[in-house]
Amino acid sequence: MARSARRQRAARLGRALFSGPVVPADSFREDVIAGLSLPQKALPPKYFYDAQGSRLFEAICRLKEYYPTRAELALTRGHIGAIVRFARKRSTLIEYGSGESVKSQLLIDALRPSAYIPVDISDHALRRAAAKLQRLFPWLDIRPVHGDFSRPLKIPMAHAKGRRVVYFPGSTIGNLTPDEAHAFLRMTRGQVGPDGAMLVGVDLRKDANLLHAAYNDARGVTAAFNLNLLARINRELGGDFKPRRFRHYAFYNATLGRIEMHLVSFARQAVNIGNHRFVFEAGESIHTENSYKYSIDGFRALARGAGFKGGKIWLDPKGLFSLHGLAAV
Ligand code: SAH
Ligand code: AVI
Repeated sequence: MARSARRQRAARLGRALFSGPVVPADSFREDVIAGLSLPQKALPPKYFYDAQGSRLFEAICRLKEYYPTRAELALTRGHIGAIVRFARKRSTLIEYGSGESVKSQLLIDALRPSAYIPVDISDHALRRAAAKLQRLFPWLDIRPVHGDFSRPLKIPMAHAKGRRVVYFPGSTIGNLTPDEAHAFLRMTRGQVGPDGAMLVGVDLRKDANLLHAAYNDARGVTAAFNLNLLARINRELGGDFKPRRFRHYAFYNATLGRIEMHLVSFARQAVNIGNHRFVFEAGESIHTENSYKYSIDGFRALARGAGFKGGKIWLDPKGLFSLHGLAAV
C-alpha cells in the first residue's frame, strides 16, 4: 500500500477511535455509589477494564490454569474452514468486547471481511488492537467503537456492506445475567437482520475443580485483576480503599451454574468516596463478577428465545469450550 494511503488509514483510525460514543463520565461514580449501597455490595464487572485491568486480563489469558482462551483458540484454528463457510466471506464483522482481538485475527485472516467493527469499553485495549490489526491487514477497513455494549450504542452501519456477522468470543456473554444475555442477543438479532448471523464463544459447565483453579490461579493474577477495581476507584473517584484489607474470593455456585468473584473485607472498616461513607463488617464482600457456564442445550434455548436458530456448534478437542454459529430465525 502506498505511503499516503497508509497515512490516510491511520488518520481515519485515530478519528474513529475518538469519535465513537464514549462511556458517560459520571456513570462510573454513580454505579459505584449505587452498587456499594446495596445490601449485598456489588460492582459491575465492566469497570475492571481500565488500562491496568486490560493488561491484567491479558496476563490471565496466558495462565496455565485459565483454559478458556487456549480452548477457544484451538477450536477456532481447528474449525476455521467450517466457521468461515458458516459466516461467509466478505461479510461485515462486528465484534463486541474485542479486547486484544487475538481470535479475531484468525477469523479476519480467513474471512477477509469487507469491514471490521470492534467495540470495547477499554480505550487502551481497543487502540492497541486496532493498530496491530491494521499493521497485519493493511487492506482491512477497521472502524473501532469505544463504548459500552450494555447501553444503547451507535454502530457505524453505513460501513457495513453485505452480510452482517456479530462476533462475541471469550465467553464474555457469561459475565451477563441470563436476562441480560437474552436482551443482548435480541439487540444483536435486530442488528444483523434476517440474513445475518452471530458467532458466540460460550464456556461450558464442567468439573468444579477445573473451574475453581481457573479463577484462583497460583500466581495471584486473577486476585490482582479483581483488586485493581478498588485501586481504580481510588485513582479515578478519589476513594480511600486500602486494597490490602480485602481478599480475592472466587467459587463455583453450582446451583446457579456460575463462578462468583468477590472481594472480602478482612476486618470491620470504613471507606470514603467523595461525600459517601461505606462501612464493611469483617467477612462482608463486594460481589464483583459472575461468569455463567452453560450446557450446549441451555445456551441453544437462550439463543432460540432471542430469535436465533442454533445452526452450528464447534468444540475444542477437550470439550471444554463451545463456539455457537447462530443464524437468524
Ligand atoms: N474477546 C476477548 C476479550 C474478552 S475480555 C477475548 O476473547 O479474549 C472482555 C472484553 O470485553 C474486555 O476487552 C472488556 O474491556 C470488554 N467489555 C466488558 N464489558 C464491556 C461493555 N459493557 N461494553 C464494551 N466492552 C466491554
Ligand atoms: C471476560 N470474561 C469472560 C472473563 C471470565 O472468565 O469470566 C473475565 C475473568 N474474570 C476472571 N478471570 C477472567
